[in-house]
This record gives sequence, C-alpha cells and structure tokens, in this order.
Amino acid sequence: MAHDELNQAISSHYGWSGLMESIEAEIRQHGIDPQQVTVGQLAPVDNYHWYRLAGTLTLAQLAAINSAERVLDVGGGIGGPARQLAHRVGCHVTVLDLTPEYCAVGEILTRWTQLTDKVSFVCGNALAMPFPDGSFDVVWTQHAAMNIPDKAGLYREVARVLHPGGRFALFDVLAGINQPIHFPVPWASNQSFSFLLTPEETRACITQAGFREVSWMMGQDLEAQLERQEASEASGEDVSADGGLNPGLLNGHDGPRMGANVQRNMKEGRIIWAMGLFERN
Ligand SMILES: C[S@@+](CC[C@H](N)C(=O)[O-])C[C@H]1O[C@@H](n2cnc3c(N)ncnc32)[C@H](O)[C@@H]1O
Repeated sequence: MAHDELNQAISSHYGWSGLMESIEAEIRQHGIDPQQVTVGQLAPVDNYHWYRLAGTLTLAQLAAINSAERVLDVGGGIGGPARQLAHRVGCHVTVLDLTPEYCAVGEILTRWTQLTDKVSFVCGNALAMPFPDGSFDVVWTQHAAMNIPDKAGLYREVARVLHPGGRFALFDVLAGINQPIHFPVPWASNQSFSFLLTPEETRACITQAGFREVSWMMGQDLEAQLERQEASEASGEDVSADGGLNPGLLNGHDGPRMGANVQRNMKEGRIIWAMGLFERN
C-alpha cells in the first residue's frame, strides 16, 4: 500500500463519522454537562489501549515524569493519556496524531476539561515529526506503533526529538510466537495496516536507534502490574457509581468482534503486550 493510501486507511479506521456526537451523547446520557466533564469521567473512553486508565497510570509511574518536563505523546489519539498526565503531574503534553478527527475531538475534550494551557494537539505523522531536534524531555507512546510499518524510522524520529538523556516510554501490542493474528482488532480491520514486531525485534530496533534499555516488562508480569493498578483505582476518584462511560465507544459498531479477537489472539499466543522505558544516548 502506498504511504498516502495507508495513512488514509488508518485515519478512516479511527476517525469514523459521528464520533464527536457519540461521545457528547454518551456524556449527556450519564447526566453530565459536557462543559463540566472531568478527566476522570472521560478516562474509560479516551484512554484507548489495553487496561485503559490503569495502562496510562502504570506507564506514568515507570516514566516518572515531573511537572517541568515537556512531553510528546506519539499517536496520542483523542488525548486521554495526555490530559491524565497534565492533570496529575502538571507537565505540558503535546499530542501528535495522524487522524484529523481525533485531533479535533481531542481539542474539544481538552477545552471542556479546561486543560488547554497544558495539552496541545498537532496533526501529523510519527515518521516525519514536525518538531526540531531535542524538543522534548520525554516521548511517550501507547498502542500506536502497530499501525506504523517503518519501526526503524519511527524510533529514529523519537530519538531525534528527544535531547540526550531524554526518556522514551512505551506501552505496545507486539507479535506473539504464533502468526498471523485474527482481524478485526481495535487497531486494524485487516492485515493491510497492522505491523507487529516481536518483543526481541522491538527492543533491538529501539536500541539501534540510539537508546539504552532501562526497563522492560511483558506478559504475565505486566498483566499482574496492570491488575494491581486497576484495583487501586477502584477505590479512587475515577470510578463512577453507575459504572461510567462506555469503554467500547471508540471501537464503533465492530467493537464486540474486535474485543473477542483480542482475547482470542492473546489466548493463542498471537499478540503480547509490553511496557518499556529507554534512555536516549
Ligand atoms: C489505538 S489508538 C491509541 C491512542 C492513544 N495512544 C491512547 O492510548 O489513548 C492509535 C492511535 O495512533 C495513531 N496513529 C497511527 N499511525 C500513526 C502515525 N503514523 N503517526 C501518528 N499517529 C498515528 C492513530 O491515529 C490513533 O489515534
């Protein structure tokens, strides 16, 4: 598939028509005034990855970001993780995302949650990031690399926009020992825009781009950590009495099939999740 065609396929997959209206309707259905919605109330919908908010908070602990740091979220979606970081840590987060609809939705949600001074959106491609060298202290990415075929190019760009000593934190879906995977999955309706590397290939590719590995966790160890994080949230501020907003909303009408395939792919050893922290040489 040509570059433009690939980018178009990815943007159409994520940016389905009526997305903003569906999110607003979902918020109103829970008796919430959209202009008053909180970062915590949005979390089931706008943290679009395995274990949702628990994934974001686990990666945040690993990355240990402070309020003065400039963070880039590559493939940051509609900005839920960025708003969590801005709200909890106080840092500035730039969200870079390929899907124009996601950037537009993200800007509205950021206005509603009054975080426009801390979270900004740039619509663009992770393979040609529109930022000067050394612009960021931390680059962060969750569940976006699986749509990007040129991983060496991706990690080269991550290294370029970080200053030496900067940190790269990732939480991703990787290829398991059995292939191919069953489609549709939340990141792709078919094979033409899903590109998974194995854990070994991923680590090698990142270190070759100019990083030192600080930490790597995957499989059952990672799942246990995410479960602990989720259990600790259950007693915290982010759980609504009515169960909260629909966590399957962004998957659209094919959500149930996507969810079933994720479970099946995981059980059959076709996908595995990993979380890692790297330091730029
Ligand atoms: C599953 S979503 C994850 C969103 C967000 N990271 C989160 O966890 O909530 C994957 C995102 O990656 C973005 N993406 C895919 N390919 C990209 C690319 N080449 N450059 C920038 N963003 C990309 C998509 O537009 C989509 O928003």
